Amino acid sequence: MSTFQTLDSADLKGKRVLVRVDFNVPMHDGAVADVSRIERNALTITEIADRGGKVILLSHYGRPKGRDLKESLKPVVAAVADIIGRPIGFAEDCIGEVAEKAVAAMKPGDILCLENLRFHKGEEKNDRDFALKLARLGDLYVDDAFSVAHRAHASVDAIGHLLPVFAGRAMQDELDALEKALHAPERPVTAIVGGAKVSTKLDLLGNLIAKVETLIIAGGMANTFLAAQGKSVGKSLCENDLIKTAHDILAKAKSLKREIVLPVDAVVAQQFAAHAPSRVVSVDDVGPADMILDIGPRSIEQAISVLSRSKTLVWNGPFGAFEYEPFDNGTIEVAEAAAELTAAGRLVSIAGGGDTMAALNAAAVTDRFTYVSTAGGAFLEWLEGKKLPGVEVLMTLRTPAASYG
Ligand code: 3PG
Ligand code: MG
Repeated sequence: MSTFQTLDSADLKGKRVLVRVDFNVPMHDGAVADVSRIERNALTITEIADRGGKVILLSHYGRPKGRDLKESLKPVVAAVADIIGRPIGFAEDCIGEVAEKAVAAMKPGDILCLENLRFHKGEEKNDRDFALKLARLGDLYVDDAFSVAHRAHASVDAIGHLLPVFAGRAMQDELDALEKALHAPERPVTAIVGGAKVSTKLDLLGNLIAKVETLIIAGGMANTFLAAQGKSVGKSLCENDLIKTAHDILAKAKSLKREIVLPVDAVVAQQFAAHAPSRVVSVDDVGPADMILDIGPRSIEQAISVLSRSKTLVWNGPFGAFEYEPFDNGTIEVAEAAAELTAAGRLVSIAGGGDTMAALNAAAVTDRFTYVSTAGGAFLEWLEGKKLPGVEVLMTLRTPAASYG
């Protein structure tokens, strides 16, 4: 495995430590709906504080276009303080005088979170000047956000070329666990890819199909494949402009002799809401007013039968609209089966992603999976074998002399 510096070799005492975390957590009615990402980052935060460092937290939240207080990190920070049981200061900007004053007032062991990085355009542009403004605030940079490692953004990439870089505990743990389980996975390998971010993930399936024996396509994404097979999907989520991509992926699977598994039946409703009246239909019988909100019992059986002849499972994205009962059923049943096979020593099960974590927590199976990653998109790109900017940046040893200036 490639080497990188961890907190073990960092001199933290009295230092201003910039820590990239991922507080991009699901929120409902102003409260954090799933705390998993925060809990993972908590280890790094408390360790640095306990070792006398000044912890300066950097994170994005949502995808704001410029400064938009609806996407402020402030409410998230209150939840983080509760979870780690320590006060956390907040600066209403991540660069400039406001941030500099807040940092200058810190004492060793203090924790400060800076406002949403994406309020500044320079963040997503990986802008060096923006990164320099961030880097001025710290002596060291700790990357603890594997779930953002696929983004070449200033707080992930550019900043790592300006300060000494260390992997935080969550990052270290993610990379170790994924490497161990998936570097040379026991075959056959099955991937389940689902969820709602269809367009960003559809392309990636083309690479993934070469790495696995079976690919189960789930969630909203499956609808585009069903449509590519000429089926009607009614009012379901479906990206018609990606039907050609779906065709290409099916053809590639065929030529590589890999199996793609699509739903054979579906739970359909005419409203996207909890307990909306629903019925089970074959995927050949979806009506024009129907929305596919979950997989049906035959598809659940089909998925479980694939898992029982697999040795390794990688899973990103739920099967249905898991946030609304009873459309969480397919995800829960398959998760339960994967957990049982894992507990019986028959399956190595790795899952990842914000929604997937929330779904597995709701199904109470997280502890029985081999490993659950905070990352969704980053996890899939890592699986594809792509180089991730946030991981690459850890790999070059830098000394303070090579720091910004
Ligand atoms: C995520 O939720 O997947 C990460 O926080 C990255 O967010 P992004 O997809 O908006 O870059
Ligand atoms: Mg997400």
